Amino acid sequence: MQLLLLNGPNLGILGRREPEIYGTDTLADIETFVRGEVAVRGWEVVSVQRESEGELIETLHGRWDTVGAIVNPGALMIAGWSLRDALAAYPRPWIEVHLSNVWARESFRHESVLAPVADGAIVGLGSLGYRLAARALMALVPE
Ligand code: DQA
Repeated sequence: MQLLLLNGPNLGILGRREPEIYGTDTLADIETFVRGEVAVRGWEVVSVQRESEGELIETLHGRWDTVGAIVNPGALMIAGWSLRDALAAYPRPWIEVHLSNVWARESFRHESVLAPVADGAIVGLGSLGYRLAARALMALVPE
């Protein structure tokens, strides 16, 4: 079984992107953390990062066979209406993750159009948030 780890625009440069906000862990580090968490269930991790909303949507359409998804949509949280529809159609549980505490930042980041169709959201805990999301999905998906 496979878990989908989906990251949106500007998240492929984690580690060197505004490290004072997003930390120094790279996306490869985060993949390793998530793989470590879900190994206990024998799950594999399919990690996809794309800069465009359309490619993220195409990835979701092709991955309904996954057990669940961890999604950091980046700024698509603000107005990614088509991504929201794709996530609403995704038939498995998914958790929205943001590394930074979006509510402590600019007001345009305070509302996610995606979160209402998520099973849960974790913000502000840096790369730990992805680990916690992996644990949440393991709790949400029956053995
Ligand atoms: C982010 C928060 C978003 O507001 C921002 O546009 C990002 C990263 C986060 O992980 O904190 O790209 O999703």
